[in-house]
Amino acid sequence: MNILFIGDIVGKPGRHAAAGLLPALKEKYGISYTIANGENAAGGYGITPDIARALLNMGIDLITTGNHVWEHKDIIPYMSESTTVIRPLNISPLAPGSGVAVLRKNGVQPLAVVNLIGRVFMTPAECPFHAALTALSELKHDHPDVLHTLVDFHAEATSEKQALGWYLDGKITALFGTHTHVQTSDEFILPQGTAYITDAGMTGVVDGVLGMDREQILQRFTTSIQKHADVAKGKEELQGVVVSTDDAGRALSVLRVKEQI
Ligand SMILES: [Fe+2]
Ligand SMILES: [Fe+2]
Repeated sequence: MNILFIGDIVGKPGRHAAAGLLPALKEKYGISYTIANGENAAGGYGITPDIARALLNMGIDLITTGNHVWEHKDIIPYMSESTTVIRPLNISPLAPGSGVAVLRKNGVQPLAVVNLIGRVFMTPAECPFHAALTALSELKHDHPDVLHTLVDFHAEATSEKQALGWYLDGKITALFGTHTHVQTSDEFILPQGTAYITDAGMTGVVDGVLGMDREQILQRFTTSIQKHADVAKGKEELQGVVVSTDDAGRALSVLRVKEQI
């Protein structure tokens, strides 16, 4: 089974790139499931119900999020009901929405997705290592037929991402990092069969700063005045990873994807 994971979709250009490139990518790699991080899909900050629906309608099966999840308050009631937009599991056990989803389609094996957030250089959260183990044991109990599990680990620190990758090696199909918006070139298969990349990258304008307008971000850095930044305009790229798996849920290969529209 082949699974496509798309790095943080940033604003309208990110949505445009995903919509334009997805059909050919899915065809090229024979994709069964498409997962995308959508925490920056609405103007670079957060996601709205309309934008979530638009992403799902373009052929994304599940949207994960991150630290910007609650930026638009109308997403809270939407996510409380949704099974296809999830938030980091370990922000708080009392948070609305879910941090785990199980996807099922005819003709292919089911896929569980767990969204976690890091604690290093991030806002306070529960332990992602403990949250991961708890989620996996609940999945095993509630969905014993699910052998494929993908983790989106939304985190800043490379060390924390690598550590969780090693911790979950052999327990999950893949751990893909998000949040930094910079695709790393360290994709590999851990010894027990878990695919890993520190960061899947970003889907949006590549000649801005992390997808945002570079002049406005430069103003911030050079003046220390924290003003709102707009989404960048320019060359659009979709960045992500494709993982191929065996029937037992082990990763066989992991490939970086980087395509311009
Ligand atoms: Fe992001
Ligand atoms: Fe983030």
